[in-house]
Amino acid sequence: MAKKKETVLIVDDEKDIRSLLWQKLKVEGYRCEEAESADDALHKMKTKPVDLVLLDIRMRGKSGVELLPEIRDSYPDTAVIMATVVTDMSTAIQCMRQGAYDYLSKPFNLDEVVFSVKRALEKRRLELENKDYQQHMEQKLKQQAKENRQLFLGAMQSLVFTVEARDSYTAGHSRRVTEIAVAIGKKLGLSDEELENLYWGSLLHDIGKVAVNPAIVNKPGKLTAAEYEHIMTHPAISASIMQPVVRNEEITQIIEHHHDRYDGGGLNQKVKGNDIPLLARIVSVADAYDAMTSTRPYRAALPREQALAEIVRETGKQFDPLIANVFLEMSEADVVPEKKKILIADDEPSVRLLLKSVLSSDYAVIEASDGQEAVEAIRKHKPALAVLDIFMPNEDGVQACYEIKADSATKDIPVIMLTAIDHDLNRKLLAEMGAEQYLTKPFKPRELLDVIAKLVKS
Ligand SMILES: [Fe+2]
Repeated sequence: MAKKKETVLIVDDEKDIRSLLWQKLKVEGYRCEEAESADDALHKMKTKPVDLVLLDIRMRGKSGVELLPEIRDSYPDTAVIMATVVTDMSTAIQCMRQGAYDYLSKPFNLDEVVFSVKRALEKRRLELENKDYQQHMEQKLKQQAKENRQLFLGAMQSLVFTVEARDSYTAGHSRRVTEIAVAIGKKLGLSDEELENLYWGSLLHDIGKVAVNPAIVNKPGKLTAAEYEHIMTHPAISASIMQPVVRNEEITQIIEHHHDRYDGGGLNQKVKGNDIPLLARIVSVADAYDAMTSTRPYRAALPREQALAEIVRETGKQFDPLIANVFLEMSEADVVPEKKKILIADDEPSVRLLLKSVLSSDYAVIEASDGQEAVEAIRKHKPALAVLDIFMPNEDGVQACYEIKADSATKDIPVIMLTAIDHDLNRKLLAEMGAEQYLTKPFKPRELLDVIAKLVKS
């Protein structure tokens, strides 16, 4: 008896043969369906899943030989056994070459039919299991490769942030460029894969600046031709750093071409117009806008209107007109989403400065220098999260935390406590006060950002 009810479709233009096979296979525990012609068989297969087809080679109308390739194409997981008269063995063998599992000769020996059906279904089951295993493995390997890539890109991202954090002029630049570029990409209707590549390409576009002389990057005056040439080596350097490890053409192309001008007039530029990769043309607009609206060593930040006027002026010259126009139609809120507020309280100005440099590219930072000031600021601004030092004058962090958690208006604001001394008693005390997290100084910037991201989201 068959273990589970598998469906066998009996295709034969002779009713008596269909009935004979139907009765025998039914007794053996199979669910049976009948079809009197090739068209009837295809119709039945369309309406319900079939595990095996017992197919007569010679039928009126379309023959079994003609039907076999159609079944193999549309239902590759269905097993087919050909049935033929003894005189037509060569056709049966031909059918085996075309993917039939077996052939049976008429007149049927019914025990042989059952044996052949069982064997074909067993072979099919093993093939399906194998296929499933392979697909599963491929998926697992793909997922693993993706995770490895994310891990590596994340490490690169930390490197970019560290390089940018060396001076206040560039801090947060790559993250802002990424936000703008992805916002443009969404307006353009890019696919999820393109948006992900755009994200990483934007975030890492300036990674080659690690190799650029910081004195030139931060020069307060106009650059000489040689200095400009030196700075403009960074796209090629960035691409050569990333290319062997990212192994993703779209990401490296963004990095390599992000300073290309649409009119082809850039330094050492090899392509122009729409030959510049689309994602690089997007980053070009985002990069220029953020550079113009940020303070630089040689000039103050330009107001938004002035930066937009410059993009209008350079449309079709520096920038792709399509992308520039999409960007120009976007509102300020579209371009840079409003940042969540975070309160930081520490009596040490140097710690506040450090916290601010880590947090300000992602969040709007409010500062307080003691516990009392912190509680007042939290009541007034209702930040998304508070980071409190434990030891502060006037009122310490523990007391401030207690007051925040006791007040129904502020009790849901997550609190991270910072302390220089990692002590079990501190942890217990803070858990009782209701603080969500406890971090020891010196903290790792990445760890702090991760903890905050988690608490702010939840
Ligand atoms: Fe750049």
